[in-house]
Amino acid sequence: MENNKFAEKIREAASEGAVLIKNENNVLPFTDSDTVSIFGRAQIDYYKSGTGSGGSVHVLYSTNLLDGMLRKKSSGHNPLINKELARVYTDWIKQNPFDNGGGGWAAEPWCQKEMEVSSELATNSASVSTKAVYVVGRTAGEEQDNKMEEGSFLLTKTEREALIKICGAFEKVVVVLNVSNIIDMSWVESPEFNGHISSVIYTWHGGMEGGNAAADVLCGVTSPSGKLTDTIAHSIEDYPSTANFGGAEKNIYAEDIYVGYRYFETFVPEKIQYPFGYGLSYASFEVDFIKANDKKGIINVTVDVKNTSKDFSGKEVVQLYFEAPQGKLGKPTRALCAFAKTKLLAPKEKEKITLSFPLSSMASYDDSGATGNKNCFVLEAGEYRFYLGTDSHSAKQILIDEKNSVNVISTLVVEKLEQAAAPSEAFKRMKPMSKKADGTYALGYENVPLSEIDLSKRIKENLPKEISYTGDVGIKFKDVQKKPAKLDPFIAQLNAEELATLVRGEGMCSDKVTPGIAAAFGGLSEALYNYGIPVAGVSDGPSGIRMDNGKEASLMPIGTLLACTWNTELVSELYICEGKELASNQIDSLLGPGMNIHRNPLNGRNFEYYSEDPLVTGAMASAVVYGLRHGGASGTIKHFATNNQETKRHIVNAIVSERALREIYLRGFERAVKQGKANSIMTTYTPLNGHWTGSNYDLVNTILHKEWDFTGLVMTDWWAELNDCVEGGAQSIKNTASMVRARNDVYMVVDNNGASSNVYGDNIPSMLKEGKLTLAELQVCAKDVINFLMQCPVSKRKLRPLKQVELCKTNVKSEPKVEKIYSVSERFSPSNDSKKSEWIKIESDGAYNVFATYTKSTDKLVSQSVCNILFNGSPYVSFDSRGTNCNILTTNVGRIKLEQGYYEISLNNIKPGIEVQNVFFQKTGN
Ligand code: BGC
Repeated sequence: MENNKFAEKIREAASEGAVLIKNENNVLPFTDSDTVSIFGRAQIDYYKSGTGSGGSVHVLYSTNLLDGMLRKKSSGHNPLINKELARVYTDWIKQNPFDNGGGGWAAEPWCQKEMEVSSELATNSASVSTKAVYVVGRTAGEEQDNKMEEGSFLLTKTEREALIKICGAFEKVVVVLNVSNIIDMSWVESPEFNGHISSVIYTWHGGMEGGNAAADVLCGVTSPSGKLTDTIAHSIEDYPSTANFGGAEKNIYAEDIYVGYRYFETFVPEKIQYPFGYGLSYASFEVDFIKANDKKGIINVTVDVKNTSKDFSGKEVVQLYFEAPQGKLGKPTRALCAFAKTKLLAPKEKEKITLSFPLSSMASYDDSGATGNKNCFVLEAGEYRFYLGTDSHSAKQILIDEKNSVNVISTLVVEKLEQAAAPSEAFKRMKPMSKKADGTYALGYENVPLSEIDLSKRIKENLPKEISYTGDVGIKFKDVQKKPAKLDPFIAQLNAEELATLVRGEGMCSDKVTPGIAAAFGGLSEALYNYGIPVAGVSDGPSGIRMDNGKEASLMPIGTLLACTWNTELVSELYICEGKELASNQIDSLLGPGMNIHRNPLNGRNFEYYSEDPLVTGAMASAVVYGLRHGGASGTIKHFATNNQETKRHIVNAIVSERALREIYLRGFERAVKQGKANSIMTTYTPLNGHWTGSNYDLVNTILHKEWDFTGLVMTDWWAELNDCVEGGAQSIKNTASMVRARNDVYMVVDNNGASSNVYGDNIPSMLKEGKLTLAELQVCAKDVINFLMQCPVSKRKLRPLKQVELCKTNVKSEPKVEKIYSVSERFSPSNDSKKSEWIKIESDGAYNVFATYTKSTDKLVSQSVCNILFNGSPYVSFDSRGTNCNILTTNVGRIKLEQGYYEISLNNIKPGIEVQNVFFQKTGN
């Protein structure tokens, strides 16, 4: 029942995020009298999510567009589908199966081989149907960016030629974009298609209900109400970040705050093909401005939205933009300040909507001191104008209190801050210069203010006070839970080694938490267990639960689709369902939402993120975090911050002005922390202005903790590198002391069972000894961990023993007739082919440690692979490691209770890459 509700929400959200770009002559929605031919393999191999951690859910089921179209709909329409054409595609796919790149980490190609469409096939299809659909499929994910190439950002030759043939035979062609990200759209009006592309719709990746949801939209079960959360420009070259994207060592963020529509509207509106906020509906709407006023610094705008269509219900998104005076700092001519979506309006129905926001949210950050208020958010003196509409480009100016603008008489300081995370490398950034007759600005450049901070001094001045070590005085975790005042005396009991164990997570696939998930952290050692500290578990994320042992879970739509709904309420409802699913799997936090800014359309992980706009991003992330919390779990907002490129994602340095950070790249996070009450955050792999973010003192300590008052947990990304908090310089995964100094609380992840033994040999012990890290700093991180654990569902459950062993029963009590049976003490080599197996004999009931000797075929340190060891066909032990650099490892991969009898042992390489050489057991007890 619960699952059905979740699936229904997924379907609702997936259809609501579809963005209708073009719909001439009402070719959509299909009607009962329409006959439709569907082309493109993605109608069957319909993408449900991207690749990498964001898409690795073992999904309960999936749906494709063809089946969705064929399914009888009780509302909406049932066009007649050309089944013969569907058969042609089904047969062709049998001959040309989906290529998953072998199933390894980040191996799946981002586009599949496509069937060529002959003129004959197109003409035959046109003889039995009046309308055609062409489905274009693309995926994307971790470790690779999109490329300005066919099969990635561009249509392939085969797709283009197929479309030419289809447009030659049909006058009404609908292109369905089953893609993870915006793609090049310059082809839409190309003359080679004879003007026959009537409709274009982005259905994105809709999770496990994506196929059904897309069919719902095409057949009019629902009217599309999605709006673009990115600007689609005529060419990739038009984006201001393209010139500085894809660098191997660094990217200079020369466009500064002029990201997406902020750039296009200010400087080159003619380069916009489809504006930010744009999307059509089957219904039509009138947005009537009623009134607007400024009440003590809160702007309220009242609008009437009317569905003017006769036949269609639908929803509209009302968007309010502002234009701040150029002042000394320079401003974009449009920036979104509020938005709201209507309810479902029946034909002729109206809804009154009031948009409200504080004037202070329009403030700009003065990082140069140009206004005389260095490092402050200021509302510069001048006229603030407002534009109301349904996209960034066509929004029309409205009056406020019957005046043209809100006039700020003299510059107002909204918030006084200190310089933090500023760049130390000089570069020039964009700035509007003279105003042109058409209202746009000439593009100029200015020097970026550089860091003037003595970080070493700042760190010293802000050092926390040490809690004197007491040793064990009998205070347990539960005591602190009942009485938080006891946190300091509780922490006082822990020695440096125990504190250090608290700041190391273990994973992936730890057997101390739900099998197959990304990490375990908290009470990972016997000593910490004895204090009653539980072990929390976290899993990817963001679109569903990733359990690498193969356990199934629900898969939601990708982040970009969800943002395109512009419906925060719906997104919260969806994530309440997700929160419940997490809770029922005993998982404490989802590693999501992903909320980096879409700086450039080529970023490979854009699909996990929301938008080029920080308000939409922050609002969506807050909705997700709210939902997860109300469902009984939590969300880990990621990746903090500037994770805007996948190429060389572990080393590429983002060189960004402090203003762009504060107004664009950190803004969404700030909202998710302050308004969404996010209590967990993940830093990135990348350095930001020379400091790897997990050890970026200003980013994590000064801005997140001190300025935003964040009291939750901060974790690194998996196997992240760190460098010196003060000097920057070379990076290492062992510089955990710098991480602690920056108050990034937990290192994710060291090898399983390696936290207390400091398996990676990190530098916490040596830095403490040398006085380069204080015990007090370690205590602060440990307190953050304990505080977080107290909020986690795990703290409400019975404390789980560290060495919990599952009982594996066997029905095979008499000797099976097989070639060879191994004794329990023998090493044996099970085949890496899951269809083959070996047998072992267990002489007596007992608990056994399971060891494996294995290597990874890949030398990529962060590539992930997972192997399950199956006992009589059921997975009991799953293990994963990051790449081994092709070294051979022997590891205790799990513990299991076995009965006297015989067991068939096989391996299941769930995510290929691990090659097991042998397996053996050691009895540990009864
Ligand atoms: C990704 C994170 C993810 C983590 C754990 C990393 O490769 O960047 O987003 O949560 O792996 O799977």
